[in-house]
Amino acid sequence: MKKIGIGLIGCGTVGSGLIRNLPKADALIGQRLGVQLEIKSIAVRDPAKSRDPLPTKPIQDWKKLIADPAVQIVVELVGGLDEAFQIAQATLHAKKPLVTANKALLAERGQELIPLAQKSGVPIYFEASVAGGIPVLKALREGLVANQLLGLHGIINGTSNYILSRMAEAGSDFATALQQAKDLGYAEADDRLDVDGIDAAHKAAILCFLAYGFLPKFSEIPIEGIRKIQSQDVGFASQLGYAIKLLAMIRPVGTDQIEVRVAPTLLPLRHPMASVHGAFNAVGLIGNLSGPVQFTGRGAGPDATSSALLADLAEAAKNLRDHSPGPALPKPSAKMKLIDRNASVGRFYVRIEVEDRPGVLAQVAGIFGTEKIGISSVLQPEGHGAGSVPLVFLLESASVASLSRAVDLISKLPNTRAPATILRVEDLT
Ligand code: NAP
Ligand code: HSE
Repeated sequence: MKKIGIGLIGCGTVGSGLIRNLPKADALIGQRLGVQLEIKSIAVRDPAKSRDPLPTKPIQDWKKLIADPAVQIVVELVGGLDEAFQIAQATLHAKKPLVTANKALLAERGQELIPLAQKSGVPIYFEASVAGGIPVLKALREGLVANQLLGLHGIINGTSNYILSRMAEAGSDFATALQQAKDLGYAEADDRLDVDGIDAAHKAAILCFLAYGFLPKFSEIPIEGIRKIQSQDVGFASQLGYAIKLLAMIRPVGTDQIEVRVAPTLLPLRHPMASVHGAFNAVGLIGNLSGPVQFTGRGAGPDATSSALLADLAEAAKNLRDHSPGPALPKPSAKMKLIDRNASVGRFYVRIEVEDRPGVLAQVAGIFGTEKIGISSVLQPEGHGAGSVPLVFLLESASVASLSRAVDLISKLPNTRAPATILRVEDLT
């Protein structure tokens, strides 16, 4: 049995999960692939911190770990951008394969890291960076490699999905549900990345890169999080036959443009993704040959993430043993670009808080009409007190530009009380 030495940088929520899960998995990997993974060195920020027993005494200096000849594969589980980038760069310079779960690093520093990996000929394995325990990156790289992809969509942040599910099913408030997600090890060290949609956008950028060879400039991706969702929106959506999910959409527009966005989105209750609850993720894609494919599974937490990290470690170890170069990254496409966010077209849910007076509904509907935006449904619940009432519209297809003009005019009406809540609607056939 070939033994491969592993160096682990970072031993927090995910790293300690990996150490806990390694012994059992190692026996299976040995039996299935004939390689054995041995943790030879661990680096952490504070080696004096009390923690569960580790296979080796932790050190502080990750440079020593990378230089250690016993370490053949480096696992980066530090998170964040700058230090993680330095670790990745030093690992590639040392000609050692890198395994990482760091989606922020790939999405925001990939423009530098990917050419570096391609030039050095050293593989980067990052299955754990997207959708936890679902092997979706391997499916894109291998099982679906012959397909032209007509689009991808997904629930790819477990924390947000957990919060929205708790709000919809248990009537939890936002703060309580977020604390539960943190306690369960789903949330990022900085939970704003989860609730503000940034983590999902990191993953969407990685999916876009693997599907289309195009890593979008991260700052240009339109991103909305779930903070604006109120329990009344969850209720109204349900009355209209929809669930609210934080959805990532990636779709080609014409031959050289791509729409990538993350936003809270109404999905029809009958669609399978509407029943993806808790920290589960789902990724749907349409291949020109395969047709629609959907993956569902645990999207966050130390065990699901260990599943992906251990698969990457097993593949990296086997490739080292076999002197195989490992998975190639797509050649970046020079001609692709993101669509202008105002040109994005879709259906929308709009909730407006107005004074409860005769004629207000007609005025608002008239403005949508002026912008040639059709209305599919309207809800105007009774008994909202204090003279104010929510008006809820489900709209037909419109561009972001025309919807913004309409909402701007509505906000200036004398009877409008509060800024509109606008959510995307995707019927996802
Ligand atoms: P975490 O709990 O904050 O742990 C970070 C670890 O990195 C800690 O052990 C810390 O040391 C160590 N560290 C920080 N700076 C260091 C330095 N300069 N040198 C050496 N070690 C250093 O983070 P996490 O939640 O495990 O997340 C790790 C990565 O996994 C992130 O990229 C995250 O996005 C990703 N991820 C998380 C999940 C999930 O479900 N939570 C899923 C997929 C991917 P101390 O222990 O001494 O503080
Ligand atoms: N914080 C992330 C999530 C971890 O909740 O999805 C998994 O990438």
